[in-house]
Amino acid sequence: MESKLVFQDVVGLPTALLAVFAVDLAGPNDADALPVLLTTSDAVTDAAATFLTGGEFKAKLGETMLLHAPAGLKAERLLLVGLGKAKSLSVNEVRKGAGTAVRACKPRGIRELAIAFPEDHALSDEHLETLPCSLTARALVEGAELAELDWDTYKSDRKDQSITALTLVGKDGDRSTKAEIQEGFDEGIILADAQNFARHLVNEPGNVLTPTVLGARAKAMCESAGLACDVYGMDKLKELGMGSFAAVAQGSAEPPALIVMRYEPAGITDGPIIGLVGKGITFDTGGISIKPAENMDKMKYDMAGSAAMIGAMKAIAAIKPRVRVISVVCSAENMPSGTAFKPGDVVTAMSGKTIEIINTDAEGRLVLADGLHYARTLGCTHLVDAATLTGACVVALGYLNAGLFTNDEQAWAAFMKGVEKSGEGFWRLPCTDDYKPGIKSEIADMVNSGSRAGGAISAAMLLKEFVGDTPWIHLDIAGCAWNEELKPWLPKGPTGVAVRSITEWVRTYEA
Ligand code: BES
Ligand code: MN
Ligand code: ZN
Repeated sequence: MESKLVFQDVVGLPTALLAVFAVDLAGPNDADALPVLLTTSDAVTDAAATFLTGGEFKAKLGETMLLHAPAGLKAERLLLVGLGKAKSLSVNEVRKGAGTAVRACKPRGIRELAIAFPEDHALSDEHLETLPCSLTARALVEGAELAELDWDTYKSDRKDQSITALTLVGKDGDRSTKAEIQEGFDEGIILADAQNFARHLVNEPGNVLTPTVLGARAKAMCESAGLACDVYGMDKLKELGMGSFAAVAQGSAEPPALIVMRYEPAGITDGPIIGLVGKGITFDTGGISIKPAENMDKMKYDMAGSAAMIGAMKAIAAIKPRVRVISVVCSAENMPSGTAFKPGDVVTAMSGKTIEIINTDAEGRLVLADGLHYARTLGCTHLVDAATLTGACVVALGYLNAGLFTNDEQAWAAFMKGVEKSGEGFWRLPCTDDYKPGIKSEIADMVNSGSRAGGAISAAMLLKEFVGDTPWIHLDIAGCAWNEELKPWLPKGPTGVAVRSITEWVRTYEA
Protein backbone atom coordinates (compact mmCIF):
# COMPACT_ATOMS: atom_id res chain seq x y z
CA MET A 1 0.00 0.00 0.00
CA GLU A 2 1.33 3.41 -1.01
CA SER A 3 0.38 6.02 1.56
CA LYS A 4 0.47 9.73 0.99
CA LEU A 5 -0.51 12.83 2.90
CA VAL A 6 -2.27 15.79 1.28
CA PHE A 7 -3.72 19.01 2.64
CA GLN A 8 -6.93 20.02 0.93
CA ASP A 9 -10.69 20.16 1.37
CA VAL A 10 -12.09 16.59 1.34
CA VAL A 11 -15.07 17.68 -0.78
CA GLY A 12 -12.98 18.12 -3.90
CA LEU A 13 -10.89 14.96 -3.53
CA PRO A 14 -11.57 12.32 -6.19
CA THR A 15 -11.28 8.89 -4.58
CA ALA A 16 -13.00 5.50 -4.63
CA LEU A 17 -13.89 5.88 -0.96
CA LEU A 18 -13.63 8.68 1.55
CA ALA A 19 -13.69 7.56 5.20
CA VAL A 20 -14.75 10.05 7.88
CA PHE A 21 -14.81 9.44 11.61
CA ALA A 22 -17.75 9.90 13.96
CA VAL A 23 -18.05 9.72 17.74
CA ASP A 24 -20.91 8.69 19.96
CA LEU A 25 -22.10 11.51 22.19
CA ALA A 26 -24.83 9.56 23.98
CA GLY A 27 -24.29 9.46 27.73
CA PRO A 28 -26.24 8.67 30.89
CA ASN A 29 -27.83 12.13 30.89
CA ASP A 30 -28.50 12.26 27.22
CA ALA A 31 -29.21 8.82 25.84
CA ASP A 32 -30.61 10.20 22.57
CA ALA A 33 -27.71 12.45 21.64
CA LEU A 34 -26.81 11.91 18.00
CA PRO A 35 -23.34 10.92 16.85
CA VAL A 36 -21.19 13.70 15.44
CA LEU A 37 -18.69 13.67 12.62
CA LEU A 38 -15.08 14.70 13.13
CA THR A 39 -15.26 16.34 9.71
CA THR A 40 -17.05 19.68 9.41
CA SER A 41 -17.59 20.07 5.67
CA ASP A 42 -21.26 20.75 4.84
CA ALA A 43 -21.33 18.35 1.91
CA VAL A 44 -20.14 15.48 4.12
CA THR A 45 -22.55 16.36 6.91
CA ASP A 46 -25.46 16.59 4.46
CA ALA A 47 -24.62 13.29 2.83
CA ALA A 48 -24.42 11.57 6.22
CA ALA A 49 -27.42 13.34 7.76
CA THR A 50 -30.06 10.63 7.34
CA PHE A 51 -27.85 7.99 8.93
CA LEU A 52 -26.81 10.21 11.80
CA THR A 53 -30.28 11.49 12.62
CA GLY A 54 -32.14 8.25 11.94
CA GLY A 55 -30.34 6.34 14.68
CA GLU A 56 -29.19 3.73 12.16
CA PHE A 57 -25.53 4.51 12.78
CA LYS A 58 -24.44 4.81 16.40
CA ALA A 59 -20.72 5.45 15.88
CA LYS A 60 -19.68 2.48 18.02
CA LEU A 61 -16.02 1.61 17.79
CA GLY A 62 -15.57 -0.49 14.66
CA GLU A 63 -19.06 0.28 13.29
CA THR A 64 -19.28 1.41 9.66
CA MET A 65 -21.91 2.72 7.25
CA LEU A 66 -21.32 2.94 3.51
CA LEU A 67 -23.02 5.49 1.24
CA HIS A 68 -22.77 5.45 -2.54
CA ALA A 69 -22.47 8.50 -4.75
CA PRO A 70 -22.65 11.08 -1.96
CA ALA A 71 -24.07 14.34 -3.34
CA GLY A 72 -21.64 17.23 -3.54
CA LEU A 73 -18.51 15.10 -3.07
CA LYS A 74 -15.94 14.03 -5.64
CA ALA A 75 -15.59 10.72 -3.77
CA GLU A 76 -17.49 7.74 -5.23
CA ARG A 77 -18.36 6.48 -1.75
CA LEU A 78 -18.53 7.90 1.74
CA LEU A 79 -17.75 5.59 4.67
CA LEU A 80 -18.74 6.62 8.18
CA VAL A 81 -16.46 5.01 10.74
CA GLY A 82 -17.40 4.94 14.43
CA LEU A 83 -14.74 5.64 17.04
CA GLY A 84 -16.96 4.90 20.04
CA LYS A 85 -17.78 7.16 22.97
CA ALA A 86 -16.56 10.73 22.64
CA LYS A 87 -15.65 10.63 26.32
CA SER A 88 -13.05 7.91 25.87
CA LEU A 89 -11.68 9.08 22.53
CA SER A 90 -7.89 8.82 22.21
CA VAL A 91 -5.38 8.11 19.46
CA ASN A 92 -5.94 4.40 20.12
CA GLU A 93 -9.48 4.66 18.78
CA VAL A 94 -8.21 6.62 15.79
CA ARG A 95 -5.73 3.79 15.08
CA LYS A 96 -8.55 1.26 15.18
CA GLY A 97 -10.83 3.51 13.13
CA ALA A 98 -8.27 3.80 10.34
CA GLY A 99 -7.86 0.03 10.38
CA THR A 100 -11.63 -0.42 10.23
CA ALA A 101 -11.80 1.81 7.14
CA VAL A 102 -9.13 -0.22 5.36
CA ARG A 103 -10.70 -3.55 6.24
CA ALA A 104 -14.11 -2.34 5.09
CA CYS A 105 -12.64 -1.76 1.61
CA LYS A 106 -10.98 -5.14 1.16
CA PRO A 107 -13.92 -7.54 0.69
CA ARG A 108 -15.66 -4.96 -1.54
CA GLY A 109 -12.79 -4.94 -4.00
CA ILE A 110 -12.07 -1.29 -3.35
CA ARG A 111 -8.36 -0.76 -3.94
CA GLU A 112 -7.89 2.82 -2.95
CA LEU A 113 -9.21 5.04 -0.19
CA ALA A 114 -8.83 8.39 1.53
CA ILE A 115 -9.23 9.04 5.25
CA ALA A 116 -10.12 12.48 6.59
CA PHE A 117 -7.88 13.68 9.42
CA PRO A 118 -10.04 14.66 12.45
CA GLU A 119 -10.65 18.38 12.07
CA ASP A 120 -9.82 20.91 14.73
CA HIS A 121 -13.21 22.55 14.50
CA ALA A 122 -14.97 19.25 15.05
CA LEU A 123 -13.03 18.53 18.24
CA SER A 124 -13.69 19.74 21.77
CA ASP A 125 -10.85 21.46 23.64
CA GLU A 126 -10.34 18.27 25.59
CA HIS A 127 -9.96 16.25 22.40
CA LEU A 128 -7.52 18.72 20.95
CA GLU A 129 -5.36 17.59 23.87
CA THR A 130 -6.02 13.85 23.72
CA LEU A 131 -5.49 13.89 19.94
CA PRO A 132 -2.18 15.73 19.42
CA CYS A 133 -1.72 16.04 15.66
CA SER A 134 1.58 14.25 15.32
CA LEU A 135 0.46 11.19 17.30
CA THR A 136 -2.94 11.19 15.62
CA ALA A 137 -1.33 11.12 12.19
CA ARG A 138 1.00 8.38 13.33
CA ALA A 139 -1.87 6.29 14.68
CA LEU A 140 -3.88 6.76 11.48
CA VAL A 141 -1.08 5.42 9.32
CA GLU A 142 -0.25 2.61 11.74
CA GLY A 143 -3.85 1.48 11.96
CA ALA A 144 -4.27 1.51 8.20
CA GLU A 145 -1.01 -0.30 7.45
CA LEU A 146 -1.58 -2.96 10.11
CA ALA A 147 -5.11 -3.62 8.85
CA GLU A 148 -3.92 -4.05 5.28
CA LEU A 149 -2.32 -7.47 5.79
CA ASP A 150 -4.12 -10.75 5.29
CA TRP A 151 -2.56 -14.09 6.07
CA ASP A 152 -3.53 -15.94 2.92
CA THR A 153 -0.15 -16.19 1.24
CA TYR A 154 -0.20 -19.98 1.53
CA LYS A 155 -3.62 -20.34 -0.09
CA SER A 156 -3.45 -21.48 -3.70
CA ASP A 157 -6.80 -19.85 -4.50
CA ARG A 158 -5.79 -16.61 -2.82
CA LYS A 159 -7.99 -13.67 -3.77
CA ASP A 160 -5.95 -10.53 -3.89
CA GLN A 161 -7.70 -8.03 -1.64
CA SER A 162 -4.76 -5.73 -1.21
CA ILE A 163 -5.27 -2.00 -1.01
CA THR A 164 -2.88 -0.18 -3.30
CA ALA A 165 -3.21 3.43 -2.17
CA LEU A 166 -4.15 5.40 0.92
CA THR A 167 -4.48 9.17 1.04
CA LEU A 168 -4.58 10.86 4.38
CA VAL A 169 -6.36 14.18 4.00
CA GLY A 170 -5.44 16.99 6.35
CA LYS A 171 -7.55 20.12 6.16
CA ASP A 172 -5.74 22.99 4.58
CA GLY A 173 -5.47 25.81 7.09
CA ASP A 174 -6.30 23.66 10.12
CA ARG A 175 -3.95 23.80 13.16
CA SER A 176 -0.90 25.63 11.92
CA THR A 177 0.98 22.38 12.30
CA LYS A 178 1.30 20.68 8.96
CA ALA A 179 4.89 19.84 9.85
CA GLU A 180 3.75 17.91 12.93
CA ILE A 181 1.20 15.95 10.97
CA GLN A 182 3.85 15.19 8.36
CA GLU A 183 6.29 14.05 11.07
CA GLY A 184 3.70 11.74 12.62
CA PHE A 185 2.78 10.40 9.21
CA ASP A 186 6.42 9.61 8.37
CA GLU A 187 7.02 7.91 11.72
CA GLY A 188 3.80 5.94 11.38
CA ILE A 189 5.02 4.50 8.08
CA ILE A 190 8.35 3.45 9.61
CA LEU A 191 6.79 1.90 12.71
CA ALA A 192 4.03 0.08 10.85
CA ASP A 193 6.50 -1.27 8.27
CA ALA A 194 8.68 -2.62 11.07
CA GLN A 195 5.71 -4.11 12.90
CA ASN A 196 4.41 -5.73 9.72
CA PHE A 197 7.87 -7.16 9.06
CA ALA A 198 7.72 -8.78 12.51
CA ARG A 199 4.21 -10.08 11.82
CA HIS A 200 5.34 -11.72 8.59
CA LEU A 201 8.07 -13.56 10.48
CA VAL A 202 5.62 -14.74 13.15
CA ASN A 203 3.14 -15.94 10.54
CA GLU A 204 5.65 -18.29 8.92
CA PRO A 205 5.17 -21.98 9.73
CA GLY A 206 7.89 -23.82 11.64
CA ASN A 207 8.99 -25.85 8.63
CA VAL A 208 9.64 -22.66 6.66
CA LEU A 209 11.06 -20.45 9.38
CA THR A 210 13.75 -22.52 11.08
CA PRO A 211 16.35 -20.82 13.28
CA THR A 212 18.69 -20.72 10.27
CA VAL A 213 16.05 -19.03 8.13
CA LEU A 214 15.23 -16.57 10.91
CA GLY A 215 18.94 -15.71 10.99
CA ALA A 216 19.00 -15.23 7.22
CA ARG A 217 15.90 -13.00 7.29
CA ALA A 218 17.36 -10.89 10.10
CA LYS A 219 20.62 -10.60 8.20
CA ALA A 220 18.90 -9.55 4.98
CA MET A 221 16.89 -6.91 6.87
CA CYS A 222 20.08 -5.61 8.50
CA GLU A 223 21.89 -5.41 5.18
CA SER A 224 19.20 -3.28 3.60
CA ALA A 225 18.73 -1.17 6.75
CA GLY A 226 22.45 -0.52 7.24
CA LEU A 227 22.86 -2.50 10.47
CA ALA A 228 25.70 -4.86 11.35
CA CYS A 229 24.55 -8.45 11.85
CA ASP A 230 26.28 -11.71 12.82
CA VAL A 231 24.58 -15.08 12.89
CA TYR A 232 26.27 -17.87 14.83
CA GLY A 233 25.55 -21.59 15.22
CA MET A 234 26.08 -24.32 17.81
CA ASP A 235 29.89 -23.96 17.74
CA LYS A 236 29.65 -20.41 19.01
CA LEU A 237 27.18 -21.43 21.75
CA LYS A 238 29.68 -24.05 22.91
CA GLU A 239 32.59 -21.60 22.67
CA LEU A 240 30.73 -19.00 24.76
CA GLY A 241 29.67 -21.63 27.30
CA MET A 242 25.96 -21.11 26.66
CA GLY A 243 25.02 -24.45 28.20
CA SER A 244 21.47 -23.37 28.88
CA PHE A 245 20.66 -22.21 25.34
CA ALA A 246 22.54 -25.18 23.84
CA ALA A 247 20.54 -27.66 25.95
CA VAL A 248 17.29 -26.46 24.38
CA ALA A 249 18.76 -26.64 20.88
CA GLN A 250 20.40 -30.06 21.17
CA GLY A 251 17.26 -32.11 20.55
CA SER A 252 16.58 -30.71 17.11
CA ALA A 253 17.99 -31.61 13.72
CA GLU A 254 17.80 -27.88 12.99
CA PRO A 255 20.84 -25.99 14.24
CA PRO A 256 20.25 -23.03 16.58
CA ALA A 257 20.97 -19.44 15.59
CA LEU A 258 22.44 -16.77 17.83
CA ILE A 259 21.68 -13.53 16.02
CA VAL A 260 23.49 -10.33 16.99
CA MET A 261 22.34 -7.07 15.37
CA ARG A 262 24.02 -3.74 16.04
CA TYR A 263 22.94 -0.15 15.58
CA GLU A 264 25.93 2.14 16.17
CA PRO A 265 25.25 5.74 15.15
CA ALA A 266 28.34 7.66 14.04
CA GLY A 267 29.87 9.87 16.68
CA ILE A 268 28.21 8.20 19.67
CA THR A 269 30.98 6.50 21.61
CA ASP A 270 29.70 6.72 25.15
CA GLY A 271 26.41 6.79 27.03
CA PRO A 272 24.00 3.90 27.32
CA ILE A 273 23.92 0.80 25.14
CA ILE A 274 20.44 -0.62 24.97
CA GLY A 275 20.16 -4.41 24.70
CA LEU A 276 17.15 -6.04 23.05
CA VAL A 277 16.95 -9.77 23.75
CA GLY A 278 14.39 -11.99 22.05
CA LYS A 279 13.08 -15.53 22.52
CA GLY A 280 13.19 -17.17 19.12
CA ILE A 281 11.80 -20.69 19.51
CA THR A 282 10.71 -21.35 15.94
CA PHE A 283 8.64 -24.29 17.15
CA ASP A 284 7.96 -25.40 20.70
CA THR A 285 6.84 -29.02 21.02
CA GLY A 286 7.66 -28.91 24.71
CA GLY A 287 10.54 -31.33 24.12
CA ILE A 288 10.58 -34.52 26.25
CA SER A 289 7.95 -32.86 28.51
CA ILE A 290 5.86 -32.83 25.34
CA LYS A 291 2.80 -30.63 24.96
CA PRO A 292 -0.68 -32.00 24.24
CA ALA A 293 -1.60 -32.14 20.53
CA GLU A 294 -4.41 -29.65 20.89
CA ASN A 295 -3.21 -26.20 19.80
CA MET A 296 0.39 -27.34 19.51
CA ASP A 297 0.35 -25.94 15.96
CA LYS A 298 0.17 -22.48 17.49
CA MET A 299 3.64 -22.92 18.89
CA LYS A 300 5.09 -21.67 15.62
CA TYR A 301 4.57 -18.24 17.14
CA ASP A 302 6.97 -18.97 19.98
CA MET A 303 9.50 -16.76 18.19
CA ALA A 304 7.31 -13.63 18.44
CA GLY A 305 9.66 -12.08 21.01
CA SER A 306 12.57 -12.32 18.60
CA ALA A 307 10.42 -11.00 15.76
CA ALA A 308 9.59 -7.99 17.95
CA MET A 309 13.30 -7.31 18.43
CA ILE A 310 14.13 -7.73 14.75
CA GLY A 311 11.22 -5.43 13.89
CA ALA A 312 12.32 -2.87 16.48
CA MET A 313 15.86 -2.90 15.03
CA LYS A 314 14.38 -2.21 11.60
CA ALA A 315 12.45 0.77 12.99
CA ILE A 316 15.48 2.03 14.92
CA ALA A 317 17.66 1.86 11.81
CA ALA A 318 15.16 4.13 10.03
CA ILE A 319 14.45 6.55 12.88
CA LYS A 320 18.15 6.84 13.75
CA PRO A 321 18.05 7.79 17.45
CA ARG A 322 21.33 9.00 18.96
CA VAL A 323 21.91 5.95 21.16
CA ARG A 324 23.63 2.63 20.60
CA VAL A 325 21.52 -0.52 20.44
CA ILE A 326 22.50 -4.19 20.32
CA SER A 327 19.99 -6.96 19.80
CA VAL A 328 20.62 -10.59 20.75
CA VAL A 329 18.17 -13.14 19.42
CA CYS A 330 18.31 -16.72 20.70
CA SER A 331 16.70 -19.03 18.21
CA ALA A 332 16.22 -22.79 18.44
CA GLU A 333 13.63 -25.47 17.90
CA ASN A 334 12.45 -27.31 21.03
CA MET A 335 12.14 -30.97 20.03
CA PRO A 336 12.00 -34.38 21.72
CA SER A 337 14.59 -36.80 20.34
CA GLY A 338 17.41 -39.14 21.29
CA THR A 339 19.67 -36.15 21.69
CA ALA A 340 17.18 -33.94 23.52
CA PHE A 341 17.80 -32.56 27.01
CA LYS A 342 15.77 -34.26 29.74
CA PRO A 343 14.03 -33.52 33.03
CA GLY A 344 16.59 -33.99 35.76
CA ASP A 345 19.50 -32.72 33.65
CA VAL A 346 21.62 -29.97 35.15
CA VAL A 347 22.96 -27.37 32.72
CA THR A 348 25.54 -24.65 33.25
CA ALA A 349 24.64 -21.27 31.82
CA MET A 350 27.16 -18.83 30.32
CA SER A 351 27.21 -16.85 33.59
CA GLY A 352 28.36 -19.99 35.43
CA LYS A 353 25.08 -20.51 37.25
CA THR A 354 23.58 -24.00 37.16
CA ILE A 355 19.97 -24.86 36.35
CA GLU A 356 18.18 -28.10 37.13
CA ILE A 357 15.74 -28.98 34.38
CA ILE A 358 12.35 -29.96 35.79
CA ASN A 359 10.32 -29.42 32.64
CA THR A 360 11.79 -29.18 29.14
CA ASP A 361 8.75 -27.13 28.11
CA ALA A 362 10.06 -24.24 30.21
CA GLU A 363 12.65 -23.64 27.49
CA GLY A 364 12.21 -19.94 26.77
CA ARG A 365 13.78 -18.82 30.02
CA LEU A 366 16.74 -21.14 29.31
CA VAL A 367 17.62 -19.52 25.99
CA LEU A 368 17.00 -16.02 27.41
CA ALA A 369 19.21 -16.66 30.46
CA ASP A 370 22.20 -16.96 28.14
CA GLY A 371 20.97 -14.21 25.80
CA LEU A 372 20.61 -11.69 28.63
CA HIS A 373 23.99 -12.54 30.11
CA TYR A 374 25.66 -12.37 26.72
CA ALA A 375 24.11 -8.93 26.05
CA ARG A 376 25.68 -7.72 29.30
CA THR A 377 29.09 -9.02 28.24
CA LEU A 378 28.69 -7.08 24.97
CA GLY A 379 28.38 -3.91 27.06
CA CYS A 380 24.64 -3.38 27.28
CA THR A 381 23.75 -1.00 30.10
CA HIS A 382 19.97 -1.39 29.84
CA LEU A 383 18.09 -4.53 28.86
CA VAL A 384 14.67 -5.43 27.56
CA ASP A 385 13.58 -8.92 26.61
CA ALA A 386 10.38 -10.04 24.93
CA ALA A 387 9.12 -13.61 24.96
CA THR A 388 6.03 -15.73 24.55
CA LEU A 389 7.16 -17.12 27.85
CA THR A 390 4.29 -18.54 29.89
CA GLY A 391 0.74 -19.76 29.58
CA ALA A 392 0.39 -18.52 33.16
CA CYS A 393 0.74 -14.93 31.94
CA VAL A 394 -2.18 -15.49 29.56
CA VAL A 395 -4.24 -16.84 32.47
CA ALA A 396 -3.31 -13.83 34.60
CA LEU A 397 -3.78 -10.99 32.10
CA GLY A 398 -5.71 -12.35 29.13
CA TYR A 399 -5.10 -11.01 25.64
CA LEU A 400 -5.18 -7.24 26.11
CA ASN A 401 -2.14 -6.64 28.27
CA ALA A 402 1.25 -8.30 28.14
CA GLY A 403 3.05 -8.93 31.42
CA LEU A 404 5.82 -6.50 32.32
CA PHE A 405 8.45 -7.26 34.95
CA THR A 406 11.33 -5.02 35.95
CA ASN A 407 14.11 -4.54 38.48
CA ASP A 408 14.37 -0.79 37.90
CA GLU A 409 11.81 1.96 38.54
CA GLN A 410 13.45 4.44 36.15
CA ALA A 411 13.57 2.00 33.26
CA TRP A 412 9.94 1.19 33.96
CA ALA A 413 8.91 4.85 33.98
CA ALA A 414 10.76 5.41 30.70
CA PHE A 415 9.09 2.39 29.17
CA MET A 416 5.62 3.53 30.21
CA LYS A 417 6.30 6.93 28.64
CA GLY A 418 6.92 5.12 25.39
CA VAL A 419 3.75 3.09 25.87
CA GLU A 420 1.76 6.33 26.01
CA LYS A 421 2.81 6.87 22.42
CA SER A 422 2.63 3.30 21.17
CA GLY A 423 -0.80 2.62 22.64
CA GLU A 424 0.09 -1.01 23.43
CA GLY A 425 -1.03 -2.74 26.62
CA PHE A 426 1.48 -3.72 29.31
CA TRP A 427 0.66 -4.48 32.92
CA ARG A 428 3.30 -4.67 35.61
CA LEU A 429 3.60 -7.81 37.71
CA PRO A 430 5.99 -8.31 40.62
CA CYS A 431 9.37 -10.01 40.62
CA THR A 432 10.67 -9.00 44.04
CA ASP A 433 13.27 -11.19 45.73
CA ASP A 434 10.75 -12.72 48.10
CA TYR A 435 9.61 -14.83 45.13
CA LYS A 436 13.05 -16.37 44.84
CA PRO A 437 12.27 -19.51 46.88
CA GLY A 438 9.90 -20.38 44.02
CA ILE A 439 12.85 -21.43 41.82
CA LYS A 440 14.93 -23.13 44.52
CA SER A 441 16.60 -26.40 43.53
CA GLU A 442 17.86 -29.15 45.83
CA ILE A 443 20.96 -29.79 43.78
CA ALA A 444 21.62 -26.75 41.53
CA ASP A 445 21.42 -22.96 41.73
CA MET A 446 17.81 -22.96 40.52
CA VAL A 447 15.13 -25.03 38.80
CA ASN A 448 13.75 -24.05 35.41
CA SER A 449 10.14 -24.61 36.46
CA GLY A 450 8.59 -23.93 39.85
CA SER A 451 5.06 -24.44 41.10
CA ARG A 452 2.05 -23.61 38.90
CA ALA A 453 1.08 -20.75 41.19
CA GLY A 454 2.43 -17.48 39.81
CA GLY A 455 4.03 -19.25 36.85
CA ALA A 456 4.77 -16.02 34.95
CA ILE A 457 6.57 -14.69 38.01
CA SER A 458 8.78 -17.79 38.47
CA ALA A 459 9.85 -17.44 34.84
CA ALA A 460 10.72 -13.78 35.40
CA MET A 461 12.60 -14.71 38.59
CA LEU A 462 14.81 -17.08 36.62
CA LEU A 463 15.61 -14.36 34.07
CA LYS A 464 16.36 -11.95 36.90
CA GLU A 465 19.17 -14.29 38.02
CA PHE A 466 21.00 -13.41 34.81
CA VAL A 467 20.69 -9.63 34.59
CA GLY A 468 22.60 -8.72 37.76
CA ASP A 469 22.18 -5.06 38.57
CA THR A 470 21.60 -3.96 34.97
CA PRO A 471 18.26 -2.14 34.59
CA TRP A 472 16.00 -4.65 32.90
CA ILE A 473 12.47 -5.00 31.58
CA HIS A 474 10.93 -8.35 30.76
CA LEU A 475 7.86 -8.52 28.52
CA ASP A 476 5.82 -11.74 28.59
CA ILE A 477 3.84 -11.43 25.36
CA ALA A 478 2.36 -14.96 25.29
CA GLY A 479 -1.22 -13.61 25.33
CA CYS A 480 -0.73 -10.66 22.97
CA ALA A 481 1.42 -11.97 20.14
CA TRP A 482 -1.46 -13.68 18.33
CA ASN A 483 -4.86 -12.10 17.70
CA GLU A 484 -7.31 -14.94 18.41
CA GLU A 485 -10.43 -13.17 17.22
CA LEU A 486 -11.18 -11.22 14.03
CA LYS A 487 -11.60 -7.52 14.80
CA PRO A 488 -13.06 -4.87 12.46
CA TRP A 489 -9.55 -3.35 12.36
CA LEU A 490 -7.31 -6.42 12.54
CA PRO A 491 -7.26 -9.92 11.06
CA LYS A 492 -6.72 -13.02 13.19
CA GLY A 493 -3.06 -13.88 13.46
CA PRO A 494 0.25 -12.29 14.40
CA THR A 495 0.06 -8.84 16.01
CA GLY A 496 3.67 -7.68 16.03
CA VAL A 497 3.17 -6.55 19.62
CA ALA A 498 6.01 -4.70 21.37
CA VAL A 499 7.79 -3.43 18.23
CA ARG A 500 6.45 0.09 18.69
CA SER A 501 6.85 0.21 22.48
CA ILE A 502 10.42 -1.06 22.42
CA THR A 503 11.35 1.44 19.71
CA GLU A 504 9.87 4.28 21.78
CA TRP A 505 11.68 3.08 24.91
CA VAL A 506 15.00 3.09 23.09
CA ARG A 507 14.33 6.68 21.97
CA THR A 508 13.98 7.82 25.58
CA TYR A 509 17.73 7.10 26.01
CA GLU A 510 18.82 9.39 23.17
CA ALA A 511 21.87 11.54 23.87
N1 BES B 1 5.92 -21.14 24.66
C1 BES B 1 5.33 -21.55 25.87
C2 BES B 1 4.40 -20.52 26.50
C3 BES B 1 3.15 -20.18 25.73
C4 BES B 1 1.95 -20.77 26.06
C5 BES B 1 3.16 -19.21 24.75
C6 BES B 1 0.80 -20.40 25.40
C7 BES B 1 2.01 -18.87 24.09
C8 BES B 1 0.82 -19.46 24.41
C9 BES B 1 6.43 -21.84 26.90
O1 BES B 1 7.61 -22.32 26.37
C10 BES B 1 5.90 -22.89 27.79
O2 BES B 1 5.66 -23.96 27.33
N2 BES B 1 5.73 -22.56 29.06
C11 BES B 1 5.22 -23.48 30.01
C12 BES B 1 6.03 -23.36 31.27
C13 BES B 1 5.78 -24.43 32.27
C14 BES B 1 6.26 -25.75 31.76
C15 BES B 1 6.51 -24.07 33.55
C16 BES B 1 3.76 -23.12 30.27
O3 BES B 1 3.42 -21.95 30.26
O4 BES B 1 2.96 -24.04 30.42
MN1 MN C 1 7.65 -24.39 26.11
ZN1 ZN D 1 8.05 -21.77 24.47
